[in-house]
Amino acid sequence: MIKDRIQELMQQVQDMQAQSTEQMEALRIKYLSKKGEITELFNQFREVPKEEKKELGMQLNALRTMAESKLQEMKEVFEAQKAAEDKPDLTRTPEPIPLGTRHPLSLTKEEIIDIFSRLGFTVAEGPEVEDDKHVFGMLNFAPEHPARDMQDTFFVEKEDGVQKPTDVLLRTHTSSVQTRVMTSQKPPIRVLCPGRVYRNEAISARAHCFFHQIEGLYIDKNVSFADLKQALMYFAKEMFGPDTKIRLRPSYFPFTEPSAEMDISCNICGGKGCGFCKQTGWVEILGCGMVDPNVLESCGIDSKEYTGYAFGMGGERITNLKYRVKDLRLFSENDVRFLRQFEAC
Ligand code: DAH
Repeated sequence: MIKDRIQELMQQVQDMQAQSTEQMEALRIKYLSKKGEITELFNQFREVPKEEKKELGMQLNALRTMAESKLQEMKEVFEAQKAAEDKPDLTRTPEPIPLGTRHPLSLTKEEIIDIFSRLGFTVAEGPEVEDDKHVFGMLNFAPEHPARDMQDTFFVEKEDGVQKPTDVLLRTHTSSVQTRVMTSQKPPIRVLCPGRVYRNEAISARAHCFFHQIEGLYIDKNVSFADLKQALMYFAKEMFGPDTKIRLRPSYFPFTEPSAEMDISCNICGGKGCGFCKQTGWVEILGCGMVDPNVLESCGIDSKEYTGYAFGMGGERITNLKYRVKDLRLFSENDVRFLRQFEAC
């Protein structure tokens, strides 16, 4: 009886087929689960007379092994099919990869560097945490100059935690890099110094406790104010368009003599007068002048042999003119809705 049943099941197991993993599982349950037909035979096997046990036992084991290996084979086929389905389709059109954007202040900085590099300027950098000597002293600031006041400048605390004017401070302008370059290099010097600067200001749309400047310095024999004017005119036209005009107004900076502030014809109304330029047709973009002989001497450069010009401009100001970003706070909030608007730039 049991022998016939084994033969019957052998045949069934041999013919076993499944179209899906569900069908495969149903077969497993049918034959090999606790109540499965093969398991059932093992239960009946206990009642088989001793002398038949050996042969029937072998047949039964063979049946179970055959069922198990057939199911295992099926499983492997289904797994291989699934893996093939999950494989990436290399012929498919790729999904667009979202690109990041460059910060508008970086875009401006890079454009300025690019323009001045065509005039032979290279980039120099200096520390943001500076000392009084490089930020003020060597730049001809009088000892009692208000920039040295705690109201204007961030001084770095001494270890006792009490904030008071110390020798260590956050640089208030990139002119400090001038002194570093002049003391470490010999003329001719032609550098552009971009960087972050800090001032003790309440944060608003028009003022921030940190912002960016780009400084220029050119020292050589026979450098004149005409050279300065020519370089700045070239810059203005490259940056704001060939119709841009420049205007220099006398000014004062401790480190330049003579000093000037430069305006460009308003690039929004073309100089006719608008709300942006307060109907004047001009907007101020930088400070400049001939390097004061005292500065050259304090940096170890012979002021009888060499002269030079310097200029400094605000990165945010130029970016505002170029991209109309009016609120300074936007530059440091890192709001992607703002930054994404520069994707095409
Ligand atoms: N350091 C000045 C400031 O922070 C800007 C400046 C003016 C830099 C005139 C210069 C210069 O090099 O010649 O306002």
